Amino acid sequence: MLWNASRYGVPAFLLAGCLNASVGQAAEPAWPPGEGQALAKAVCTACHSVTTVARSSGYDAEAWAKLFGTMVALPAAESVQLATYLAEVFPPRDHRAAQLRPGPHHVAFEQWQVPTLGQRSRDPVEAPDGRIWWVGQWGNLAGVLDPETGAMREYPLPAGTYPHSVTLDASGTPWLLGNKNGTLQRLDPETGAIAVFPMPDPEAKDPHTGEFDAAGRLLFTLQQSNRVGRFDPATGQIDLIVLDRPKSRPYGIKFAPDGAAWVACNGGPCLYRIDPDTLEQTRVDLPNQESHVRRLDVAADGTVWYVNSGAGRLGQYNPKTQRFKEWPSPSGPASHPYALVVVDGIVWYNESGVRPDPLVRFDPQTETFQSWPIPSSGVYAGILRHMRADRAGRLLIHQSATNHLLRVSPDPS
Ligand code: HEC
Repeated sequence: MLWNASRYGVPAFLLAGCLNASVGQAAEPAWPPGEGQALAKAVCTACHSVTTVARSSGYDAEAWAKLFGTMVALPAAESVQLATYLAEVFPPRDHRAAQLRPGPHHVAFEQWQVPTLGQRSRDPVEAPDGRIWWVGQWGNLAGVLDPETGAMREYPLPAGTYPHSVTLDASGTPWLLGNKNGTLQRLDPETGAIAVFPMPDPEAKDPHTGEFDAAGRLLFTLQQSNRVGRFDPATGQIDLIVLDRPKSRPYGIKFAPDGAAWVACNGGPCLYRIDPDTLEQTRVDLPNQESHVRRLDVAADGTVWYVNSGAGRLGQYNPKTQRFKEWPSPSGPASHPYALVVVDGIVWYNESGVRPDPLVRFDPQTETFQSWPIPSSGVYAGILRHMRADRAGRLLIHQSATNHLLRVSPDPS
């Protein structure tokens, strides 16, 4: 093979994860002709299809080099050839332009690029010691960042884990959701030792997102397996239920003030309420068939806020009145809202279907939107897939394409 991706600083284990990640994709469309075509094919399709590149907003050569520099390390001459080629065949376009909404509020972004390139960094979460944990899904790793010093440490995970998320128990210990090998894993931050807890049912394949409840139990979703699980670290017991709507693809999960877990359906128009004690499930059907929901959060008053990813809307469900309300997201029906968190009564989410991927602020009191492009060291690219707040009310976010973690301070003084 003339071009070998491992020559370009893509570690073998990462390639395994990338190739794994692209299994099941449709036949690969061709790279446009040009000098650099063979290089692009060899280097870029190691991790994802050309479609990922063709769908982008396009860049000039300088920005292309910055962008793929977050994914792969190339020798200078090849980097120049590739950037020139990409700028020629995929120049800047506005086919997916975001509709940014101006407004009176300010946000401050702090950002960090994580060490292993192209790892699909995601799901940052704050530990009690102020450090920020994340996972590199395709890099098969977990990492921790000290935001005070910028120091980072990455921990390799057992082969085949491909963690979808990390969440912390009350003591601040990180737990990983092994999306490809059907496990939960506890990581010892000192030694890097991993304790593995496999799913007790072979049909429960893909732990996805999880949160610990006040009783110390981990409630988690399994998207493709259409299941919700409950893990008790005190006993090691894992209980699983199958959701009553086939292919509902349970995705985001959050707790309400009454202790119930709420689960988003990425596969259809529904939400579920799960009782963590009995695992009793109550399905709430959303009004429109095109609706599906990546993530949700529950406000202090019990209101469930969700992204209607399918219809490009922000939604609200009041369990007391059983009423829905939805608002069109600023970038419209194809905006694909994705991650969401409610902080101090303000709803924050992003529009992953457009570029840049905007961070959107919605004030339920005034029903007004404001949005900002999410930066990554000089480029705008990628998707925010999950966000949580730290104890100071700052948003912890990421861009899965550019290897960046970010912290957002709302209304900095
Ligand atoms: C080591 C893995 C890796 C390699 C090699 C790689 N990428 Fe990526 N790339 C990623 C990841 C991870 C994402 C985010 C995918 C996701 O979130 O689903 C991404 C996403 C993208 C996106 C989409 C950005 C957006 O706005 O959504 C573009 C464009 C892109 N890559 C270009 C390239 C080009 C050009 C090359 C070749 C020079 C390349 N990539 C090589 C890992 C890689």
